[in-house]
Amino acid sequence: MINIALDGPSGAGKSTLAKALAAKLGYIYTDTGAMYRTIGLAVKRAGISPEEKEAVIGLLPSVKISLGFENGEQKIYLSGEDVGGLIRTNEISAYASKVSAIPEVRAHLLSLQRDIAAANNVIMDGRDIGTVILPHAQVKFFVTVSDKERARRRYLELIAKGENTTEQEVYEAMKARDLQDSTREIAPAIPAEDAIFLDNSGDFDAVIATALEIIERKTKN
Ligand code: DC
Repeated sequence: MINIALDGPSGAGKSTLAKALAAKLGYIYTDTGAMYRTIGLAVKRAGISPEEKEAVIGLLPSVKISLGFENGEQKIYLSGEDVGGLIRTNEISAYASKVSAIPEVRAHLLSLQRDIAAANNVIMDGRDIGTVILPHAQVKFFVTVSDKERARRRYLELIAKGENTTEQEVYEAMKARDLQDSTREIAPAIPAEDAIFLDNSGDFDAVIATALEIIERKTKN
């Protein structure tokens, strides 16, 4: 099976890139952030604070996450319920960020992620795919975008959703989360040693063409 790891910070445009590449290649796209978000949702529904590590760990055996794929797009289920439309809020982002720093939470998702990669040609996006989950992936990308551009994109998204914020505020919150994600003890969001940096600041079609060329070169024969 061909496994492509696509890591990088939030707001770098990983999911748009991964979806487009998966569609072009006929691979499955797997969004691991959605899995952490789904655990965050389960924790919230259980009335547990994401800071209560032991309580979160205690909940894990009842958190049954499964995935479906329709037209190459991922669907995510919590005990059979399609929760894809419920996990992209700011509140769940905060839950996901907190629970993802708990080692037992990461261990809970590891086999699900590896099983998908063992059974499918996949592009998997996340933070630790190239370093921890799929260290043998044939291609590892680390997607980057300038901090200012990332903040600008995120700001426009939030404004479109009706949130009241400023570009500066978004920039500062983003840098704080980056620092937390890249310095945490478990699975810090850092590039694998053999990752290829993919600058996603410029023209989208050009970035896709570059990525496809690299994938083709690394996966032939
Ligand atoms: O990619 P995203 O924003 O949907 O991710 C949600 C949260 O989960 C974010 O705080 C980073 C974390 N995450 C992680 O720790 N490891 C992954 N492989 C994917 C996401």
